[in-house]
Amino acid sequence: SAKPVIFSGMQPSSDSLHLGNYIGALSQWTRMQEDYDAFFCVVNLHAITVPQDPKDLAERTRATAAQYIAAGIDPAKSTLFVQSQVPAHAELAWVLNTLTGFGEASRMTQFKDKSQRYGSDTASVGLFTYPILMAADILLYQANAVPVGEDQRQHVELTRDLATRFNSRFGDTFVVPEAQIQQGTAKIYDLQDPTSKMSKSAETEAGLIKVLDPANVTKKKIMRAVTDDDATIRFDRAEKPGVSNLLTIFSVLTGRPVASIEDEFAGRGYGDLKKGLVEVVEETFAPVRTRTEELLADRAELDRLLASAAERANEVAGRTLSRVYDAIGL
Ligand code: ADP
Ligand code: NA
Repeated sequence: SAKPVIFSGMQPSSDSLHLGNYIGALSQWTRMQEDYDAFFCVVNLHAITVPQDPKDLAERTRATAAQYIAAGIDPAKSTLFVQSQVPAHAELAWVLNTLTGFGEASRMTQFKDKSQRYGSDTASVGLFTYPILMAADILLYQANAVPVGEDQRQHVELTRDLATRFNSRFGDTFVVPEAQIQQGTAKIYDLQDPTSKMSKSAETEAGLIKVLDPANVTKKKIMRAVTDDDATIRFDRAEKPGVSNLLTIFSVLTGRPVASIEDEFAGRGYGDLKKGLVEVVEETFAPVRTRTEELLADRAELDRLLASAAERANEVAGRTLSRVYDAIGL
């Protein structure tokens, strides 16, 4: 097709995606799939770079794919596949490993952050070369753009450097992709710690809204969200981070401007805003949850969808890989 290509992925490293993933990634992807030839990948090879439980990983891989579809990724429009079902990812990553300087890889700040968390004995070489596997993910599909969060900018820069280096050393082979940093995409904060990004890596789940949580669990978390003593419903990120976060979530999920929500709740208490938000979140997530459960209940059908997407991904990726092998004399 003549449409520009995008590649994006998420790790299957949690039992449920969270509200930040939904707003920052999934809902953007759903919108983009109309205008792009989109490859959306459940990056399970990335997920084994840190300690993991094999049974959980297999289940989470399916559950992540199911949530993509349930949230609106249409397998008829987008290629939604599982990374380990396309061997070219690991094969191209090896080739790119041989083109990456040790110092260059050592400058990746995400490795520095993560390896500190795990300690130098537990942090694997796989975690160190993670950005190189990510470069392979992107370059195999000749992606023009990579929709990612700001935290991934450095990895996309490395991808560009590797593509350019390969092209100049071995002949034009890769499209050099652009990072498409989601400007204006709302960043969602933890409900208990509203100056930290909502993340699956948070120490407790009390402030983490999970797509697959039952309604009563989500309700409890929202009703207990940290606010302030000022008791006015007003957006002010610096002075009122908790209330501002609730307003942002409300606004993004309803498509209404923040000002209109401030107006609706003017003169009312935080409890009312929270109750309103409980409804909005439930309206958004209830259908996603139901659809995810349906998809997971028919494992054979889900696996068939993923296998058929992997077939297309293998075709495209295999074409790139054989050009690479030709170019370097393998
Ligand atoms: P986590 O921080 O939970 O580990 P990931 O780093 O796996 O999440 O992110 C997966 C995708 O979700 C990325 O595209 C990222 O930009 C988006 N994302 C994650 N957390 C948030 C958040 N709090 N607000 C907005 N987008 C987010
Ligand atoms: Na992360």
